[in-house]
Amino acid sequence: MKLLDKVGREFSGYNILESGKRLVDRKPLQCSLYVTDRCNLDCAYCTEYDNSRPHPSIDDLRKWVRKIRELGTMRIALVGGEPLTHPDIVELVRYSRELGFATSLTTNGFLLTRKLLAELEDAGLQVMQISVDRMTPSLVTKKSFKTILPKLDYFRDSKISLHITGVICADTLPEAQAVLETGLSRGIPTEVRLVHADPLRRFRVDPGQREELERFIDSMIERKRRGERIHTSEAILRYQRSLLRGEHVEWTCVAGYKLFFVSAQGKFWICSMVHTEKHIMDVTLDDLYANYHKKTCQEGCGVYCAVNASLLVEKPVRVLGSEIIARAKRLPSILYSSSRPRIDNATPVRITNPDGAQQMNGGTDGSPAADNRVTLGEGA
Ligand SMILES: C[S@@+](CC[C@H](N)C(=O)[O-])C[C@H]1O[C@@H](n2cnc3c(N)ncnc32)[C@H](O)[C@@H]1O
Ligand code: SF4
Ligand code: SF4
Repeated sequence: MKLLDKVGREFSGYNILESGKRLVDRKPLQCSLYVTDRCNLDCAYCTEYDNSRPHPSIDDLRKWVRKIRELGTMRIALVGGEPLTHPDIVELVRYSRELGFATSLTTNGFLLTRKLLAELEDAGLQVMQISVDRMTPSLVTKKSFKTILPKLDYFRDSKISLHITGVICADTLPEAQAVLETGLSRGIPTEVRLVHADPLRRFRVDPGQREELERFIDSMIERKRRGERIHTSEAILRYQRSLLRGEHVEWTCVAGYKLFFVSAQGKFWICSMVHTEKHIMDVTLDDLYANYHKKTCQEGCGVYCAVNASLLVEKPVRVLGSEIIARAKRLPSILYSSSRPRIDNATPVRITNPDGAQQMNGGTDGSPAADNRVTLGEGA
């Protein structure tokens, strides 16, 4: 990859013009679409799959996607359930790109093959988030590097930007550091984040693990500031630390307005946690704007994409500024590595450039960075 491309990728997602537009107009930035409720796994912490329901048809998905675009939405995040179980996932990606969406897909990666990745790339997919919680599978979660490491090689020459996201709970905390190091050492933007959907707000860790968790978050903030590819904003890391400490954070949730979700039955959802019975086909821009207010569920909210978007709408200069500074810190290593000859290292699977520079961009936020890219939100 050429030096200028590499530098450009570090700052992709920072299309100031387009970002600026969505920060001042009344249109939505991102929709997370549940491509299906069905899933091939059964993570113990997950409330977002249901194998009793059939896949939605590609005709319905096309109709909903068209409507989502008509509302002015720039980015579509294809989620589930497991999106790769849907037989028409490639077609859906292609259609979303034809409509002009920046397009990302979140997957557990188990069904990913070299051929499917090539098809998704050909269809125009820009960003893929693979969820990895541990180094080896457990009873709580099978999403581990044991399955995913051999597949990283598929991304070696792919234009799709890969990032890794893990969920922390008591079961995964002992391996969270190793997950982070494994991703970062291969040049993959990586994040591990607190579990949401935990009504008791114990974050599914033992009380004794709280301090360890807090230290871990502190270390990620430090590394983020040094320019390492921690795949989330500093604002969200600090927010998670406040959650752990039980501190109040002042913000206004923009879910249902700047970002929203559409269920696998076509229902308009404010976010992954707050559902409505309204059909997406009946939603208007006024309906969206009516959701721009503080919500009673804000305290302890773990829908980090919504929190990130909300903080950005509220404090764009601070949130964007710290991200741009963090990325700028990577430039010297990119420039240095570009001037050196290729040196293979002993890493068993490399998906970085031979010189160690990152091949994948990926926003700080699990979101696609396309022609009309903007910078809000995370993977749901
Ligand atoms: C619901 S999954 C759907 C996509 C795909 N099946 C996967 O696992 O990547 C989307 C993301 O939500 C995360 N997730 C699921 N339940 C969660 C929870 N209770 N707290 C935090 N993240 C969760 C998953 O780990 C994954 O990264
Ligand atoms: S987190 Fe993803 S892989 Fe795990 S059960 Fe939920 S939908 Fe399936
Ligand atoms: S505060 Fe959190 S849970 Fe409530 S609507 Fe906003 S994103 Fe959803």
